Amino acid sequence: MRMLVLFTVVVAAAAQNDKPKPHREQFRVIYEWQTIDFEWETPEDRETYLNETKYIPQNVLISGINYYEDKLFLTLPRMLTGVPATLATIPTNQNDTTAPKLKPFPSWSDNKVGDCAALQFVQNIEIDRYGVMWILDNGRIGTLTHRPDPKCPPSIVLIDLKSDKYEMERIPLPLDIINPNTTYLNDLVVDNRDGDYAYITDNSAVDPGIIVFRRSDKKIWKLRDSKSMSSTTEAAIFRINGTTVNLPVNIDGIALGPQFLTEDNQVDRTVYYCPLASIHLYAINASILRNESLAEAGDGSLRPYVVDLGMKASQTDGMKMDSTGTLFYGLITNSTIAEWNSTAADFSVGQRTIARDPNYIQWVDRFTFDDRGNIYVVINRLFNFVKNQVSTSDVNYRILRSTTGLKSYVHGEDLIPPSGHHDAAATQTVAASLILLAIAHILV
Ligand SMILES: *[C@@H]1O[C@H](CO)[C@@H](O)[C@H](O)[C@H]1NC(C)=O
Ligand SMILES: *[C@@H]1O[C@H](CO)[C@@H](O)[C@H](O)[C@H]1NC(C)=O
Ligand SMILES: *[C@@H]1O[C@H](CO)[C@@H](O)[C@H](O)[C@H]1NC(C)=O
Ligand SMILES: *[C@@H]1O[C@H](CO)[C@@H](O)[C@H](O)[C@H]1NC(C)=O
Ligand SMILES: *[C@@H]1O[C@H](CO)[C@@H](O)[C@H](O)[C@H]1NC(C)=O
Ligand SMILES: *[C@@H]1O[C@H](CO)[C@@H](O)[C@H](O)[C@H]1NC(C)=O
Ligand SMILES: *[C@@H]1O[C@H](CO)[C@@H](O)[C@H](O)[C@H]1NC(C)=O
Ligand SMILES: *[C@@H]1O[C@H](CO)[C@@H](O)[C@H](O)[C@H]1NC(C)=O
Repeated sequence: MRMLVLFTVVVAAAAQNDKPKPHREQFRVIYEWQTIDFEWETPEDRETYLNETKYIPQNVLISGINYYEDKLFLTLPRMLTGVPATLATIPTNQNDTTAPKLKPFPSWSDNKVGDCAALQFVQNIEIDRYGVMWILDNGRIGTLTHRPDPKCPPSIVLIDLKSDKYEMERIPLPLDIINPNTTYLNDLVVDNRDGDYAYITDNSAVDPGIIVFRRSDKKIWKLRDSKSMSSTTEAAIFRINGTTVNLPVNIDGIALGPQFLTEDNQVDRTVYYCPLASIHLYAINASILRNESLAEAGDGSLRPYVVDLGMKASQTDGMKMDSTGTLFYGLITNSTIAEWNSTAADFSVGQRTIARDPNYIQWVDRFTFDDRGNIYVVINRLFNFVKNQVSTSDVNYRILRSTTGLKSYVHGEDLIPPSGHHDAAATQTVAASLILLAIAHILV
């Protein structure tokens, strides 16, 4: 069955009339599923997995999405039992929109439950400008069951997609900073400059924060600001498609703005984030998150640097920024996909609805861009999943696509500070390496 659905596009007319708008196409359904099925190695495997309840179709939910070279990567967090793989791919283009089968990535064995060399619980991934996939593996499975099971240490897993070996480099997170029983590595943005950083939202119910991971020396630290990173009681209970949910979920969506030059010619960028149970959007400069000493300073140390950008019409799960500073995000209770051009107007007046449909836009989860100007979004009716009321005779998961002509923030422009200025941080690093060299010399 081939089905393409057009949505009503409701664009606020105000302040947009005389400026040329980039060509925009409406969102269409490119894929939809009632339940998720896989490309099995043999037909018997499927039967065995079903028999042994290692595959329970209604327990498999699509959450995150990413793109690389004509493949869409989908994440399947193991919130319940019976999820045979936690990361998988489908082709970007296929004529049939109905329920393509997912292919575990990198392989079936790399998704084996209980094998700590394999992926256990992947909520989100990012693919950076060099084709490196950054995977958040919580290690803990069954997060929505009565007995969440921390099978393996929470880890960041890197895969170089340019090599077809798809070897996994696993970096377990230090247990003195990350509690494997409570951490919830939710989403991340990657900042490919001066050592490659990931800024990760940890929506732990007891200790929410932003985890910073620097790839060059594999160092991590965690920063907290309870005011902007915690759920608010007013926003925890909400209603969508006739279902009321109570989800006091902490810091969740995260996005990264384009590089800018500060007054003293340093490169910086804005990090945007929001708790799920909140209607505020917050911002902080990346240079602040990169300052490790603020992690030691404890709660409250970030407070002076956090900016409340204002309110949205509703709660938001995932968001994504393009390379020039336009943010895409969902408004859950309004069945809406919205955008904000951060270079054109303040958040409080610059938000636009780009698609609204109560039947097709039921819980906007994550977004991705491809390399030809398309944006994709996962719609997954998460409210039914968390309430254990998924009906396998309904369409539960959809991927929508629109052409915007935009590309992901990871491909944004690199700014080079004007010459003649000394980069203080770089000078410090050089000085530090000189000291190390001197020590090395003494040791020799
Ligand atoms: C699955 O269970 C059915 C019914 O118990 C049985 O007939 C079948 O042989 C089993 N299949 C496998 C692959 O174990
Ligand atoms: C989709 O259909 C078109 C026209 O029928 C055909 O040319 C194309 O090869 C098909 N693509 C795939 C991926 O099957
Ligand atoms: C995690 O939970 C297990 C089992 O309850 C406990 O033994 C362990 O000490 C906990 N770890 C931490 C870091 O709290
Ligand atoms: C980031 O830093 C610049 C100055 O370098 C400042 O103008 C801006 O307000 C800061 N942004 C946030 C979100 O604090
Ligand atoms: C990091 O934060 C500390 C504590 O606020 C401050 O003293 C220091 O100057 C900051 N470092 C940088 C490089 O901004
Ligand atoms: C969005 O949803 C909220 C809560 O359901 C409602 O109060 C608000 O009026 C809606 N906004 C729009 C623009 O539809
Ligand atoms: C954002 O606003 C800037 C300045 O008005 C404009 O040049 C740019 O095209 C806008 N971007 C999008 C994606 O609409
Ligand atoms: C919920 O969504 C389904 C599927 O789109 C629709 O048929 C139904 O009418 C909706 N129910 C409510 C109460 O909005």
